[in-house]
Amino acid sequence: MLNILPRIRIPLRCYSAVLTARNENFAKVKQSDIMAFENFLGKDGVQKDDISNHTTDWTGQFKGHGSLVLYPKSTDEVSAILAYCSKNKLAVVPQGGNTGLVGGSIPVHDEIILSMNKISQQFAFDDTMGILKCDAGFILEELDNKLAKHGYMMPFDLGAKGSCQIGGNIATCAGGIRLIRYGSLHAHLLGVTVVLPDEQGSVLHLGSDIRKDNTSLHTPHLFLGSEGQLGVITSVTMTAVPRPKSVQSAMLGVQSFEKCCEVLKLAKSRLCEVLSSFEFLDDAIMECLKTNLGLHPVLNSPTPFSILVETSGSNEDHDMEKMSAFLDELLSKKLIVDGVLAGSSADAAKMWKLRESAPLAVTRDGYVYKHDVSLPLNSYYELTNVMKERCGDLAKRVVTYGHLGDGNTHLNITSSKQNENLEKLYVSILIPILLLIFRMYPFLYEWVVAHGGSISAEHGIGQLKLPYSNLGKESEERLLTKKLKNIFDPNGILNPYKMI
Ligand code: FAD
Ligand code: MLT
Ligand code: ZN
Repeated sequence: MLNILPRIRIPLRCYSAVLTARNENFAKVKQSDIMAFENFLGKDGVQKDDISNHTTDWTGQFKGHGSLVLYPKSTDEVSAILAYCSKNKLAVVPQGGNTGLVGGSIPVHDEIILSMNKISQQFAFDDTMGILKCDAGFILEELDNKLAKHGYMMPFDLGAKGSCQIGGNIATCAGGIRLIRYGSLHAHLLGVTVVLPDEQGSVLHLGSDIRKDNTSLHTPHLFLGSEGQLGVITSVTMTAVPRPKSVQSAMLGVQSFEKCCEVLKLAKSRLCEVLSSFEFLDDAIMECLKTNLGLHPVLNSPTPFSILVETSGSNEDHDMEKMSAFLDELLSKKLIVDGVLAGSSADAAKMWKLRESAPLAVTRDGYVYKHDVSLPLNSYYELTNVMKERCGDLAKRVVTYGHLGDGNTHLNITSSKQNENLEKLYVSILIPILLLIFRMYPFLYEWVVAHGGSISAEHGIGQLKLPYSNLGKESEERLLTKKLKNIFDPNGILNPYKMI
């Protein structure tokens, strides 16, 4: 029996169930369609068997039923596919590296998977202006390695860098561990080539290849976070940033969340222009990393909270002096109880291994309820405490890591398997009162919105958050989004049953 009630008054709302029924306006793939695809892609551009790596997501929690994967090699081939599918009412899911965490790249029913894996030929870089133009199928890490040769790097970095693609990054408006320094992808995107799912498979070149252009609406930015709803991105133009010559990393042990916020404040003021990451891990994720992956903390004594702080600059002595002075000040002000400054890149890699392995560690518990919400800092860790109390023994673990410097928390609630009692509605009749208690959902998302946050800071809506996607959004904004979707995708064939 639950003994906790919501601490805040939240109006009861209605949530429409996720639309799971197949839309019968869509055609089913026929042999003649496969022949048509083979005709314009070649036989190696069409795959019918062994496609489970395209129909299952990274967590293994989303499994779709698609039976066909197409591998176009160029914008023209994407155009031919989308024109054909639009005319023949065949639903399509764009798929990049398939590392998304909300089921956005997985077919729900029998949608055709349009893989971008083979669109990774064109790469151009202007090393004076720092402007990169490349095909959408390039893997983030590959791009970063290419830029390294020019003394530049990608302005964002994710644990999934070895698999995610730049097109997928744009389509999800990926955040990651450098946002505190370089800002979101909105600050970097200059142009995109997109193919629309209309009967012409229209190819649009939006934005430009130059840094400043205020001659139109900023249409490329419509595709940031568009989750494959509006069109297929085939090429991206964006800015890269100079690669730092000096990188300092430190792991800090902190006793209270309030002190973590004080450390952040001081980091911004003292490390200022060189501060490049400010990541957070609580003791529960540290324990999970140890138990599930055998990864041990780098700090000597366990503390409730650990912070991974990084600076990136161009002068080792200057940056080291700043970092050392910062650490001294933290110790003298008793804001931290322990701290390790990486003495080598191997030390730094150990620290980052802990943070970047957190998503994998939680999956090893069996089933994980993932969250990527943003909150004002005074509510950031309160959410974890509230959920710990609500889930009680039903959860295996309630752990938190995240991008504290961006107000983005990744609260993960694990269980050995999917547990309806843990997630959904709990109904208990205490005569004469009918008690409706929402243990996890929609409580968690309503709590976030009631505390001034967003239900998705990074991963998007996809399938996972569809029932809650109206939360915190004015109905006018939702309506405008639907109108835009109708303009771009008049037959509604692109990535149905998801975000819009
Ligand atoms: P996919 O998963 O293939 O697709 C994601 C969405 O974009 C889908 O809706 C798909 O239809 C659409 N899409 C993909 N490519 C295109 C295209 N070319 N045109 C149109 N639509 C397209 N995310 C963060 O924001 N920050 C993190 O720190 C972070 N860390 C992660 C760590 C791990 C270990 C993992 C597994 C994931 C992490 N993610 C993170 C989530 C994920 O990596 C990002 O969302 C990433 O940007 C997805 O890229 P992708 O190529 O894998 O896209
Ligand atoms: C991260 O920051 O590690 C990612 O967004 C993935 C996750 O939330 O697990
Ligand atoms: Zn993240």
